[in-house]
Amino acid sequence: MTGDGPLHARTALVTGGGRGIGRAIALALARAGATIAVTARTGHELDAVVGEITRAGGRAHALAADLMDDDAVAGLVDRVRAALGGLDILVHNAGGAPPHGDFARAPIASVDATLRLNLRAPMLLTHRLLPELRRRREPAIVFIASIAGMSGSAGAAAYCAAKFGVRGFAQSLFEEVRELGIRVAVISPGFVDTALIPPNRRIDRARMLRSDDVADAVLFVLRTSSTAACAEIVLRPQRSPYVR
Ligand SMILES: NC(=O)c1ccc[n+]([C@@H]2O[C@H](COP(=O)([O-])OP(=O)(O)OC[C@H]3O[C@@H](n4cnc5c(N)ncnc54)[C@H](OP(=O)(O)O)[C@@H]3O)[C@@H](O)[C@H]2O)c1
Repeated sequence: MTGDGPLHARTALVTGGGRGIGRAIALALARAGATIAVTARTGHELDAVVGEITRAGGRAHALAADLMDDDAVAGLVDRVRAALGGLDILVHNAGGAPPHGDFARAPIASVDATLRLNLRAPMLLTHRLLPELRRRREPAIVFIASIAGMSGSAGAAAYCAAKFGVRGFAQSLFEEVRELGIRVAVISPGFVDTALIPPNRRIDRARMLRSDDVADAVLFVLRTSSTAACAEIVLRPQRSPYVR
């Protein structure tokens, strides 16, 4: 994780970087030479990721924050500036879904929380960090959406609405900043084997995507030539994880 990788001298903030897909993305960007900041609420998970990166010779910072708290996001932006100096790559990965259930019976507080974490938080953080990114030579913003943002499904209405919203926001942002040379990409994975997906007898975990598959897609987005914009990637498990 030293000096001469393709992302050498670049900096990256990965939200939800303490475990699962975000951890894999942080490690992959660090292996490619970037200096990393990871954020999430759980400090010990962030510390573990930072420890992994620094033990391998990389540079990383743990910046704990709750992305659903606007004051915490304002503080995070200041801490990102202090830790990284400037920001080249912003990866919006933090997210989560409430337990499956009919929308009619979902508490509105849970609907609000799902939209706030999965849609409003990346919009707010983008709003706050866009001035930082605009100052850089090859900035990039990558959103981790979901297959749930491409096709609605019973029992996950708020999560699907949020992830559809992320794609709509990212596509609009792409149009607004493309002339500035800012890359904006959305990655929409199907099932990934992380703690987000609870054990389920009807799903074969061995067939799910790995977190590293999503990290590879992030690296692909960042490595395309400056004439090409990889605006959207749909990543599905090769074999259906549903047990027939
Ligand atoms: N797993 C899948 O099958 C799958 C498929 C498609 C898309 N995705 C998307 O991929 C992303 C990562 O999911 P994952 O599977 O890696 O889930 P995960 O293992 O549960 O990780 C979620 C990350 O988000 C952070 N997070 C949650 N709430 C937060 C908050 N309020 N403030 C700051 N950070 C918060 C978590 O940390 P703390 O809890 O410590 O805050 C954690 O680091 C999500 O956006 C998810 O929707 C997942």
